[in-house]
Amino acid sequence: TAAEECARAALAEHGSERGPLLPVLHAVQEKLGCIPRDVIPVIADGLNLSIAEVHGVVTFYKDFRSTPPGRTTVRICRAEACQARGANALVEHAKRQLGVEFGETTPDGAVTLDEVFCLGNCALGPAVQVGERLHGRVSPPRFDALLGELR
Ligand code: FES
Repeated sequence: TAAEECARAALAEHGSERGPLLPVLHAVQEKLGCIPRDVIPVIADGLNLSIAEVHGVVTFYKDFRSTPPGRTTVRICRAEACQARGANALVEHAKRQLGVEFGETTPDGAVTLDEVFCLGNCALGPAVQVGERLHGRVSPPRFDALLGELR
């Protein structure tokens, strides 16, 4: 498949580096937007690792995803200052509204929900990043309005 070919290209480029697994995975994700399941055996084989080892690294690092992201990624800040301003309730609301957990994408492919730890907007929590744009004081109704703009 094209994904497997992409993995082979990444192996050719980074396979001989020291600690090659992370650079290979980053290269694949940069190209494909995610680490599809079918490339894991190819990478394991290329680096003489077990499939479980590669899979373990992919699931351990939050940077890697196994499905492509939605058209827009919505990140909710869960760090302390935002928590003190109601981020937890906002997280529950967001998950319910979108019907997804963190790291997941809505079935229509519109939105991926993610968490983030401090967006540098602490005085204006809860902070939410929608695509590239930062929003402060996001209440549940305001969150719904932001989502409405995406659809
Ligand atoms: Fe949320 Fe800093 S704690 S932006």
